[in-house]
Formats: sequence, C-alpha cells, structure tokens
Amino acid sequence: MTLDSFSTTRLVAEPLTGAHLPDLRRMDQDELFMARLGGVRDKAGTAAYLGWNLEHWAEYGFGLWMLRDAATGDMLGRAVLRHLDVEGVDEVEVGYGFLPEVWGRGLATEVALACVRIGRDQLGLESIVAITLLDHAASQRVMLKAGLVYERNIVHAGLPHVLFRTREGNHRAENQSTTSRSEAAETDEP
Ligand SMILES: CC(C)(COP(=O)(O)OP(=O)(O)OC[C@H]1O[C@@H](n2cnc3c(N)ncnc32)[C@H](O)[C@@H]1OP(=O)(O)O)[C@@H](O)C(=O)NCCC(=O)NCCS
Repeated sequence: MTLDSFSTTRLVAEPLTGAHLPDLRRMDQDELFMARLGGVRDKAGTAAYLGWNLEHWAEYGFGLWMLRDAATGDMLGRAVLRHLDVEGVDEVEVGYGFLPEVWGRGLATEVALACVRIGRDQLGLESIVAITLLDHAASQRVMLKAGLVYERNIVHAGLPHVLFRTREGNHRAENQSTTSRSEAAETDEP
C-alpha cells in the first residue's frame, strides 16, 4: 500500500516530492536544525538526500513527509517513517525535525504520535524504533512522549546513539485505555 497525506491538529503532512527541494534546502542549511543530524548539507548533499528519500517512497510506499502549519500553510518541518539498518537488522524508524522558530510547542510530539499510529495501524508494524545521539535530550523527550522506551545504546554511522522502541504492551494498554492521546502524551510511560 502507499500512504498519502495526513493531518494532525496543527499540521498537514504531505509526501515528499521533487518540488520540496527549496524547503529541504532551507532546513539543511539551518545550523540549529542540523546540529545533531550530521551538520549542514551543501546543495549536492540535499539533492542526494531528496533522491534517496524519493526512492524510499517508490520502493516502500511510505517515507518522508513535509509538514505545513495547518492554519497558515507555512512549511515548518519534516517527519519520517523509514527503513533503518540498526546494527544489521532492518527496522522502521520514526523521525522528526522542525525549524527552530517553532520548537517547544509540542509539534514534534504531535507528529511522532501520528507517525507511530500510522505505522502500527496502516502499515501493520509490530514495532517502530527511533535513534538519536546520546546528548540529544529534546529528541529523547519526544520519543518518550510518543510512547517509545529506551532499549539500548548502539553505534550508528560510527557514532554512539540511543535506540528507543515502541512496545506491544504499550499499544495494548493504549487501545484499552479511555485516556486520550494528548493526555497519554504527558506521561513518560503511556
Ligand atoms: C528535537 C526537536 C524535534 C523537538 O521538537 P519540538 O517540537 O520542540 O518538541 P516538543 O515540543 O514536542 O517536545 C520537546 C520536549 O523536549 C524538552 N526539551 C527541549 N530541550 C531540552 C533539553 N535541552 N533538555 C531536556 N529536555 C528538553 C521540552 O521541554 C519538551 O518536553 P516537555 O513537553 O516535557 O516540556 C527539535 O528540537 C528539532 O527539530 N531539532 C532539529 C532536528 C532534530 O534534531 N531532530 C531529531 C533528530 S533525532
């Protein structure tokens, strides 16, 4: 199956296309955005990133979504459900990134929750992972709020990372609970 656009309360997510190149460039050139994503990319780096993310969509029917402000249409960030090699094991990761001017409003948590739900309900994934650098506290906080739990430290791209993963038990508990997702998002152990 191929996934398409989706919406959250404050965001509209559109599948990546070649037309998003200028939006990707803006994010890839932003030092704060890219600080824990390997640093800023040059033009060729962004073009390569666009290319392999489009290939991912073509091969798997899901991948990177560009995220607009639902109210204004402004481009704010991006999110992914994407295959990831974790120490030789094929996993699907959830990821997110926003322009610095909109940090701290809960947008990453909002889209991460939506991506986890899509991965589970529409792609039928048994688990979804997320990785980040050891010192990226904000991203780890988003992972917790999106219902993932710390699994172990790993080496990825030659650097130490933490690996978080959704849990079957979490999903069952969520399905049985009458607590809304926004309320559940306020706890570390949903
Ligand atoms: C990481 C990132 C996605 C967070 O986005 P966001 O929309 O600000 O995230 P949210 O508002 O949903 O949640 C952030 C949480 O981290 C917390 N936080 C922020 N900075 C923190 C820090 N330095 N230390 C500890 N916690 C921190 C916030 O307080 C918030 O938690 P709370 O709701 O419990 O208070 C954003 O900083 C970003 O886009 N960074 C650049 C791209 C990137 O690094 N992506 C992740 C790659 S793994």
